[in-house]
Amino acid sequence: MEILIVGAGRMARSIGLRLVRNDYQVRIADRDPDSAADLAAELGESASGESVYNAAGATIIILALPYEAAKDLVQSWAEDLSGKIVIDMSNPVDQALDGLVTPEGKSAAEELAEAAPGAKVLKAFNTTFASKLATSETLDVFIAGDDADAKRRLMAICRDADLRPIDVGGLKHARTLEGIQLLQMKVQDQIQGNWSTELTFAP
Ligand SMILES: NC(=O)c1ccc[n+]([C@@H]2O[C@H](COP(=O)([O-])OP(=O)(O)OC[C@H]3O[C@@H](n4cnc5c(N)ncnc54)[C@H](OP(=O)(O)O)[C@@H]3O)[C@@H](O)[C@H]2O)c1
Repeated sequence: MEILIVGAGRMARSIGLRLVRNDYQVRIADRDPDSAADLAAELGESASGESVYNAAGATIIILALPYEAAKDLVQSWAEDLSGKIVIDMSNPVDQALDGLVTPEGKSAAEELAEAAPGAKVLKAFNTTFASKLATSETLDVFIAGDDADAKRRLMAICRDADLRPIDVGGLKHARTLEGIQLLQMKVQDQIQGNWSTELTFAP
């Protein structure tokens, strides 16, 4: 199966590694095609860097972008995302890690879903740190979304990638996932990464 990852930073790399290790074909698109090509080269022959920055040909799109960038992109690609599974991992936190920057009562993922009404938007991966995702450790991936089939497909991908998907319900629960991660990031910042604050329900 082929997956388009948008962005070529830490999360794109970590998720890309998980996917290529488990026989997925990964396409990397970045605003800078050279960055996309560099990451694809690092991921190996199952990955390719896109020379264009669009959603053509993709059915599953992982947005590994900051919140504002993801919002801008989804607004500009809106029609091209129709019918596609779009995965938002963003953490819309303020610089002081003191609050969320989304409008009151709304998550980043819900904003994306509003911007591209034809897309099947899921929230996932926002509570897993890139450094842990880059390992082969089994991590819990909390998934919120309103499209049952899209969720099933992402859960299967997670299992293939040695992750443990947990369905937390509809897309409105992205608000909780974003709030939980604000807390995790705050704690992580205060203890300077010396504890594991990975959110997990693992036995
Ligand atoms: N890092 C983590 O542990 C972690 C964990 C969970 C969720 N997340 C979330 O995952 C997302 C990606 O985080 P990351 O750590 O991978 O960030 P990152 O390493 O900084 O990479 C961000 C990527 O987005 C691109 N980008 C930045 N601004 C952009 C814009 N205005 N338009 C288009 N592309 C833009 C960057 O391109 P350039 O290199 O050209 O700037 C880069 O490819 C964020 O929403 C973050 O909240 C991160």
